[in-house]
Amino acid sequence: MSEKDFLLFAESAPLVAVAARGAEHTLRCGVRSATERRERLKEVYGRALGCTACPLHQTRTTVVFGAGNADADLMFIGEGPGANEDKQGIPFVGRAGRLLDTLLEEIGLRRDSVFIANVVKCRPPGNRDPHPEEIESCDPFLRAQVELIEPKVICTLGNFSTKLLRGDPTGISRLHGQDEVRTIGARAIRLLPLFHPAAALYTPSSLQTLRDDFARIPALLAAPPLEQPEPGEGGESVEDDAVELGAEFTLSSAEGRIEQSHPEVETEEPPVEARTPEQLGLF
Ligand code: URA
Repeated sequence: MSEKDFLLFAESAPLVAVAARGAEHTLRCGVRSATERRERLKEVYGRALGCTACPLHQTRTTVVFGAGNADADLMFIGEGPGANEDKQGIPFVGRAGRLLDTLLEEIGLRRDSVFIANVVKCRPPGNRDPHPEEIESCDPFLRAQVELIEPKVICTLGNFSTKLLRGDPTGISRLHGQDEVRTIGARAIRLLPLFHPAAALYTPSSLQTLRDDFARIPALLAAPPLEQPEPGEGGESVEDDAVELGAEFTLSSAEGRIEQSHPEVETEEPPVEARTPEQLGLF
């Protein structure tokens, strides 16, 4: 290992070891250190805090950008913040979030070893479904997150993120638990669609299915690295535009009907003002 590679590796040493990267990954990619990922994400977060691109900004308490390890190999993508998330600025803090934590624990992972984000970063009022134009407005933030974190595996939670990332209207009931390789931005990534934890809270059979599908995650994380597209081969790269979100991004939002919303059972939490990622413990 050269000194440069060693320094990159040392800098990117995971905050929590489990689902984060090892020397092999750093040597293979050798591009961004964990610190750089975090700093770039903070810049994108700053953009998101000021975003007024869709009407959701008018009713949000705070932007729920995403949270976890900026250097994670595993990313979860949900639908959008509920009331608790809107107040706290952190994704999946309600009942569905607690279930997510439990399912993670069952496969030996912790929330702070993965990165959790949503399709839309601001709460749709009354937990209604996000509208297609809201999903499209927010898509550059999600693409930038994926591009900066460079996860090996993305688990989409429910219909909205599954349809968005696959660019296809096929519903989660048909796709859950079946991993596939997708090129997202400039990278090949293993995608595993999963039922949304909120849906599993209401249907015991879905909970068992979700648990069974979760059990596939460790093997996907341990799978050999995917061959990556040559630069320019894998579609649009948003990397250089990640901190200049706006007109530059090519969007590929899901087409067709988007099914089923997931009402959260809410408990009251005190609101927080928008704080720094460090104060919120985001990444
Ligand atoms: N449901 C989601 O999809 N995301 C959250 O952050 C919380 C609930």
